[in-house]
Amino acid sequence: MLPLALLAAPAMAQSAPDGAAIFTRCAACHTATGAGVPGAFPPLQSDFRTLAAKAEGRRYLALAVIKGLSGAITVQGKPYRGFMPAQPLDDASAAAVLNHVGAKIATSGPAFKSFTPAEVAAARAGGAKLSAADVARLHEAAGGQ
Ligand code: HEC
Repeated sequence: MLPLALLAAPAMAQSAPDGAAIFTRCAACHTATGAGVPGAFPPLQSDFRTLAAKAEGRRYLALAVIKGLSGAITVQGKPYRGFMPAQPLDDASAAAVLNHVGAKIATSGPAFKSFTPAEVAAARAGGAKLSAADVARLHEAAGGQ
């Protein structure tokens, strides 16, 4: 039994972060269902999945989470001009929460393909100089609607 326990421990330490648990911090603003609050906090629904279907949109979504977002964007036909603080998440945790949103919160839109920690790391490296306002300016060209 002991060797088995010793083998199991490192596997558990490396298990993926729990996206549902991380999402509770997002739910403080975007609500538990991701429906958001019109005019204040955008829904994490079809716009999320539409963005996640394109490379530029995926980069924008990862950057919105890790760099924050500040500026005028239109989400599902409604205007927002709010401020989302950068979320202090490592690459694996950011990927886990994006995947929770894409798979469990966003209920409509194109089929969702999971983010990998490497994809988040690439967005983080490429967007190192971007501010939250710069990220908001990416929304429309990235396919947001
Ligand atoms: C303090 C409130 C707050 C928290 C916490 C928060 N957000 Fe946001 N989020 C916002 C606001 C406000 C906007 C819109 C910003 C704007 O108008 O420029 C936004 C926008 C977004 C967008 C862009 C949506 C789109 O369709 O373009 C995504 C994606 C997002 N948030 C995901 C998350 C995730 C995932 C978390 C948790 C890790 C999170 N947010 C935590 C307030 C918050």
